[in-house]
Parts: sequence; C-alpha cells; structure tokens
Amino acid sequence: MSGSNIEAGQPKGGISAPELSRRLFLERFSIVLGGATAALVTVPVAAFVVAPLFRHAPAAWRSVGKAEQFKVGETVAVRFQDATPLPWAGVTANNAAWLRRETTEEFIAFSVHCTHLGCPVRWLQDANLFMCPCHGGVYYKDGTVAAGPPPQPLTRYAVRVRDGEVELQTRSLHIA
Ligand code: FES
Repeated sequence: MSGSNIEAGQPKGGISAPELSRRLFLERFSIVLGGATAALVTVPVAAFVVAPLFRHAPAAWRSVGKAEQFKVGETVAVRFQDATPLPWAGVTANNAAWLRRETTEEFIAFSVHCTHLGCPVRWLQDANLFMCPCHGGVYYKDGTVAAGPPPQPLTRYAVRVRDGEVELQTRSLHIA
C-alpha cells in the first residue's frame, strides 16, 4: 500500500487542498467575469430603452440672438441648449440649427442633422444648398431633398420673435 493518495500528498477524496482552492477561485472568478460581461451588455441596452422616457418633457423656447443681428436673406448657424438635457448630457446638450431671415418679419430654422444618418449638414451660400458631407445628401434651401440618400426633408424648428429675441422651439428630433 505504499502508492496511496496520502503518500502522494493528497487526501483520500483525490483532490489536494491547493487544487481545491484553485478550483474555488476559478469558479468564483468565472461568476464575477460572467456578471461583468452581462452588465456590459445589459446596461447600454437598458439605457437605450429607458432614455426615451426622459425625452418627453415639453418643448422649450431657446433664444438664439437678437433679431437685429440677422440680415434678410442670410442663412447662419445658431447654437442653443437642448430642450430636455439629460443630467449626464454634458456638452451633448448643446445643439445647433441653420437660421435664415426670410423677410424682416419671418425667420425659418432647420436642424443641422441630416435625415439620413444624422451627420451635420453645411450651408453652401453660393449654391443655395445644404450639403451633407457623409454620403452626399443634398437639400434645397427650403430643406427638401435634392439628391442622395436622405429619406425626408431637413427637420424644421418653429421660430418666433419675442422682445427682440429670435427663439427656436426645441424638441427631440427624429432621424430616420
Ligand atoms: S448622413 Fe447625410 S447623407 Fe448620409
């Protein structure tokens, strides 16, 4: 009986104490790793599903400057804060639009986001067109699609003038 497990440094069950603790460690490590992986997948998906619930706050009017600073016929970029900034939004709560003074009384404003995949469109004064640099989308000056993949016109903002300030009505924008 000189070849027993006890002689080889193992208990009668066949597993040594160091091997047992290694197995236990690996088991627990697998559980922790699995939990972390599940969290990595689940948290972004849950945030994607829940985020729209925070986006249904009422639209808000945002000033983009004095009416007198905009010239009739000019299309300029204006900046404002999103209507419903999320607490963790940071700089992403900053938004922009293209604003044009059509007449002394009338302003129109377009979202800068292309309706294809959301790239910021540029205004080309000489061509009187909005161009999207991502996939070549082109919009006429009234925001309707001229060419390329955009499925719908540029989103328009409601505009008003209050106490000499031009204001845009901000809201969640839908990109196709
Ligand atoms: S995002 Fe503008 S054309 Fe694709």
